[in-house]
Amino acid sequence: MTGVSQENIIPQTYELLFSEEQILQRVRELGAEIEGHFEGRKPILIGVLNGGFVFLSDLIRCINTDLEIDFLRISSYGDTRESSGHIKILKPLSADIRDRSVVVVEDIVDSGLSIQFLKNMLSAFEPAELRFATLLHKPERTMVDINLDYVGFEIEDRYVVGYGLDDAQIKRNLRGIYVVG
Ligand code: IMP
Ligand code: MG
Repeated sequence: MTGVSQENIIPQTYELLFSEEQILQRVRELGAEIEGHFEGRKPILIGVLNGGFVFLSDLIRCINTDLEIDFLRISSYGDTRESSGHIKILKPLSADIRDRSVVVVEDIVDSGLSIQFLKNMLSAFEPAELRFATLLHKPERTMVDINLDYVGFEIEDRYVVGYGLDDAQIKRNLRGIYVVG
């Protein structure tokens, strides 16, 4: 379904950063890496709501080994663009991840506080392995020391939307990723 026009919902101030084709090409590469590492181990991929669901849905279809999915939701910025640093679990995991191979799937790592919180929280369940995948990473902004195993694209410190990422809750349905002007 590539090539669908979304001109009517893309403000003129938005600047295209990654096209749908560029994103899917990179997602295929990440899927192949994850498949190579976890083949035969039935990993659980955990999508972080809300932003991570689009990436998760494309990523799992690029991984050709049996896997499970689950979701969790943590409090984010609300409608602001800065992390408060106070993170709460809004929807806990359903799956039992003890002794399982786990990949957390995020849309973007900015300050890194969310991913650090998730690492601490999920480690306590004693998974066999815990890895982190994010489509985007803003390395300049990240203030925690955490290893990201799968990164789609490193980007500059700009606010981006589309492909699951929101601007005050809208624009998640854009097929490309845009810098908000
Ligand atoms: P962190 O805890 O600061 O790393 O923030 C992570 C979360 O903030 C992401 O999962 C996103 O939901 C949100 N976020 C950070 N930067 C952006 C952005 O540029 N656009 C949209 N959401 C963002
Ligand atoms: Mg997120």
